Amino acid sequence: MSARDVILVTGGAGFIGSHFARAAYEADSEVIVLDDLSGALGWPQLPDGIARVRGDVAEREFITDVIKGRGVTSIVHFAGKICVGESVKNPALYYESNVTCALALLDSVRESGLRKFLFSSTAAVYGIPDITPIRETAPQRPVNPYGATKLAVEHALASYGSAYGITWGALRYFNAAGAHPDGTLCEDHEPETHLIPLAIDASLKRKPPLTIFGSDYKTRDGSAIRDYIHVCDLASAHLAALDALDTGRSIGALNLGTGRGYTVLEVIQAAHDLGIQVPHAFGPRRDGDPVSLIASADRAAIVLGWKPVRSDLPTILEDTLRSRAL
Ligand code: UFG
Repeated sequence: MSARDVILVTGGAGFIGSHFARAAYEADSEVIVLDDLSGALGWPQLPDGIARVRGDVAEREFITDVIKGRGVTSIVHFAGKICVGESVKNPALYYESNVTCALALLDSVRESGLRKFLFSSTAAVYGIPDITPIRETAPQRPVNPYGATKLAVEHALASYGSAYGITWGALRYFNAAGAHPDGTLCEDHEPETHLIPLAIDASLKRKPPLTIFGSDYKTRDGSAIRDYIHVCDLASAHLAALDALDTGRSIGALNLGTGRGYTVLEVIQAAHDLGIQVPHAFGPRRDGDPVSLIASADRAAIVLGWKPVRSDLPTILEDTLRSRAL
C-alpha cells in the first residue's frame, strides 16, 4: 500500500473494521470510516485524524460522491450482518444487508472508476469441512445463510473483477478474537455470542457462567475446536492484502487463521493459567456448530508474506480482558 492510499472502510465502527482503520491510519494512509452505526453502540475510540461518515453503503449517489469527493483509492468492505443464528431465522435480512448492499456498493465502485476492493469474508463459506486444516480450494458448502451470503459476494467479485477490471481479494476469517493491546478498542457486539468475550465477561461476573456447548464431540476433550486469530493480526493481513492488490492483480480468497486449533476447554484452561477463573457449565451442542474449524494458513503466508504474531491464546485472552476491564 502506498502512503497516499485513501481507504474507505465500510463498517469501520465494528470490531474488525475499527482495528483495521486504526492500523491503516498508523501505516500513514488516509482513512475514512463509513458506518450506519446499526451494529455498534456508537463510534469507537479512533484517532482524530480518521474521518467518520455516517451512512449506508447502499446509497449509491452518496457513496459515489464520497469516493469521488475524497479521492478514495481502495475500499475495504466490512459492513454487514454477522450472526449465524439470526441468519437462519431471518435470511431476508442477511441477503439484503450482505448481498444487495454489497452489490449496490460495487455499483458505486464501477461508477466512480475505483478499482481496488477488499472484502471481509468468513470460514463459514466452507460449512462442515471434510478435511482440516481447511485449504481455500476445499468445497464451499455453507450450512447457514450467513456463510451463503458471504460466498455469494465472493462469486460476484470474481465475475465483476473479470468483467469490470476490479482488483479484489476476499479474506476468510476464522475465529476473530482479542482486542487492541492499549484497551481502547474492543469486541462490542449486542448480543454477544462469541466464546472469548463471553468467557471474560463471566470471569468479571458481568455475565452468567459460560455454557460450554457440547461435551461429546469426537475431540481430545469432547469440546469443539476453533482457530482463534487476533484482531490485530487480521488488521495487518488487510494491510498486506492492499499492498498485494497494488500489483494490479486480484488475490482471490485467502484464509486468515493460524493453522492451530484449540478446544473450548483448552481456552478455559489457558485463561485459568493466567489467573482468570471462568465459571462454566456444560450444555447441549449449539445447532449448526461444526466440530472443528482450523485454517490452512499457507496461502496467506505465500501471497501476503503475512504471519500472525499476537494470536497465541494467552495474548488473546489478556488483550480481551484489558479491553473489557477498562
Ligand atoms: N461456544 C461455547 N459457549 C458459548 C459460545 C461459544 O461453548 O457461549 C463455543 C462454540 O460452540 C464454538 C466455539 O465456542 O465451538 C467458538 O464459538 P463462537 O461463537 O465464538 O464462534 P463460531 O465458531 O461459532 O463462529 C465464528 C464467527 C462466525 C464465523 C466462524 C468461522 O462468529 O461468523 O467463526 O470460524 F463464521
